[in-house]
Amino acid sequence: MPKILFMSHAGEEHSIEAKVGDSLMEAAVKNSIAGIDADCGGACACATCHVYIDSSYSALTGTPDDMEQSMLDFADEVQPTSRLSCQIPITEEMEGIVVRLPESQ
Ligand code: FES
Repeated sequence: MPKILFMSHAGEEHSIEAKVGDSLMEAAVKNSIAGIDADCGGACACATCHVYIDSSYSALTGTPDDMEQSMLDFADEVQPTSRLSCQIPITEEMEGIVVRLPESQ
């Protein structure tokens, strides 16, 4: 059960314990993290699960594939560290990872 820290744009912190194998989006929804709407249920088709993951964690989270990248092209406030949280499976090694939310969420 790795601990994951979700941080709102305003700096509000929510630390949760996530289940390995869930996606970051599923962990956020199960823990009622505000701003992760996940309208498409994880099908990589809505971008309402948009988050920022510091590049220092990219070895753990990987990088967006073509489908995720093309959906990110339609998201607001995209940054180089943007990801769709439904496309990131949680692993034990993600203990302590910080996930930031865009201002509009
Ligand atoms: S939940 Fe829709 S793209 Fe992630």
